[in-house]
Amino acid sequence: MVKKYVFGTPFETEAVICDMEVCKDNPQIGSISVQDGFRFEYKINDMDVIYGLGEANRGINKRGYIYVSDCSDDPEHTEGKISLYGAHNFIIISGKENVGLFFDYPSKLTFDIGYTRHDELKVFCDRADLYVYVITGESAYDITKQFRRIIGRSYIPPKFAFGFGQSRWGYRTRKDFDDVVKGYRDNNIPLDMLYLDIDYMQDYKDFTTNEENFPDFKEFVDSLKAQNVHPVPIIDAGVKIEDGYDIYEEGKEKGYFCKREDGTDFVAAVWPGWTHFPDVLNKDAREWFGSKYKRLIDQGVDAFWNDMNEPAIFYTEEGVAALDKAIHNYVEGNDICVIEDIINTANAVPAEIKQCMQNLQNNEEDYKRFYHNIDGKRVRHDLVHNLYGYNMTRAAGEAFEKIAPDKRILMFSRSSYIGMHRYGGVWTGDNKSWWSHILLNLKMMPSLNMCGFLYTGADIGGFGDNTTRDLLLRWLALGVFTPLMRNHTALGTRNQECYRFEDIEDFRHVIGVRYRLIPYLYSEYMKAALNDDMYFKPLGFVYPDDKMAIETEDQLMLGNEIMIAPVYVQNTSGRHVYLPEEMKFIKFMPDGTIYEQLLDKGHHYVEIALNEVPLFIRKDKCIPVAEAAQSVPEIKWDELKYIGYEEAEYELYND
Ligand code: GLC
Repeated sequence: MVKKYVFGTPFETEAVICDMEVCKDNPQIGSISVQDGFRFEYKINDMDVIYGLGEANRGINKRGYIYVSDCSDDPEHTEGKISLYGAHNFIIISGKENVGLFFDYPSKLTFDIGYTRHDELKVFCDRADLYVYVITGESAYDITKQFRRIIGRSYIPPKFAFGFGQSRWGYRTRKDFDDVVKGYRDNNIPLDMLYLDIDYMQDYKDFTTNEENFPDFKEFVDSLKAQNVHPVPIIDAGVKIEDGYDIYEEGKEKGYFCKREDGTDFVAAVWPGWTHFPDVLNKDAREWFGSKYKRLIDQGVDAFWNDMNEPAIFYTEEGVAALDKAIHNYVEGNDICVIEDIINTANAVPAEIKQCMQNLQNNEEDYKRFYHNIDGKRVRHDLVHNLYGYNMTRAAGEAFEKIAPDKRILMFSRSSYIGMHRYGGVWTGDNKSWWSHILLNLKMMPSLNMCGFLYTGADIGGFGDNTTRDLLLRWLALGVFTPLMRNHTALGTRNQECYRFEDIEDFRHVIGVRYRLIPYLYSEYMKAALNDDMYFKPLGFVYPDDKMAIETEDQLMLGNEIMIAPVYVQNTSGRHVYLPEEMKFIKFMPDGTIYEQLLDKGHHYVEIALNEVPLFIRKDKCIPVAEAAQSVPEIKWDELKYIGYEEAEYELYND
């Protein structure tokens, strides 16, 4: 049962789309106070597991740490980080009681989950203006499905989006892009998407293409699509300020950019230099910005990724002025010898200047300097900060329905709030080429699914830092199962395309397994989307009475038939797994054969070589397997074979 409670005057985020009466009774869970902001407190029992929070750091069980919903452009996802790119305020307390809680609040919200005191859960924010949804049910899984029903159906991407994609920040020229496709095709490594990072644009201007590198962009798109490769251009939040750039001029004239307090357009620097932010929380501006995607759609594009939409700010005029002032004060207040000494000593920047430098990027004060025009009401950005990425992606999603109503268009975003799951997927942002980030990738997946985000994945191989061959192979063996399977890396890092490494056949094989599994993965994705269900589930959702299953956080259930357990430790030739029931251990071997071994319920050590892809088929179930293909349209759906338990039945979904 779902109950809706209202406190103060909430902002209508439209995360929940189901009409519900507001309850007047007491929520009968924990205690709520609305003095000096909102505060929910709950006594956690020893056995309670706290699930949720979507794209967040640490474990599947969120107990024992503190998390703040505050969409942040922070590429250092170390263990201490409390805010990432998304804000997904849904949690489930599962144990003595089973209760789901969604705090529909668009600004900074803190979840202290047994951090300050091990046995207390506290959820609090500055203003007591929010909706709280309280969901009771028989299990965490049941509660999740009820929640998913009230937030509406998850986004469904086109089928090609289940293929493999190659990306890099740094591809610039036509040749750079053509070489990548050639690298994949010549080496017979499957490929369905080629990502176009910021350099495809003219001076980083949204919806433009670089004239020198792409004199005929449509022809470029056509040539890729003739090879079954879909280009996926990036769209950034900031619109470059440049006379003659029509989108800037139009937005300015129509008043569609976010404004300062004095009514002038707010200015922030991002990749293009000085930009304005389209006011995507304003209905007209959202429609206007969304309509611009048509420019690329008209040239054959059917896939996009939205970026920098926290929105990220490198610096503002105000921030630069503060730094300037700090430098001046310092120079004027100090003897010339002291200054010379500083200039000559590396890293000896005085604290007050250092502070101003640190304050330049993504500064909270800057988020208080601009306003949205929402139905004629001026709303300061920081009060609705977590809705920006959501509404930028909604702008695109709503536009796609008009521009191409009969077509599915690929869309995923960096920043998000619950509600955005209806318009696109998410990728988990700028991770690193670290082994720990394979595990973090895995742990985020079911939590994201709980919040409606089904089309998800991480930058495989790692975005920051240099990858290694073994890291990439092991990560791909997890990526085989994530709906979004993309190899992406940052400017200046080591080459990360799969054909750049020795023994290319290993990459061909591992990615090939993805294509062999697409009939299963696509079927399970569609069933999850159409039934408000999960694609990835924590083991505890399927085996709620099995303590060991609940505590196993490095394995996941995928759909109804399989369990996955990827290797995420370097220099290991296998791993321990826990089987909550008898299962068939399957390995896709590099010679194309499929290894099968029946394993009893319990603990096992299984050998998994770098070039093998493991999975486990649940008792009395089977899955379809295709032959490997070079692209999604080449998969032969009418020649599937089934592996797993004989006599088992499988419901295939195809369209
Ligand atoms: C951001 C994105 C990253 C992209 C880069 C350049 O860091 O998260 O994926 O490559 O910007 O556009």
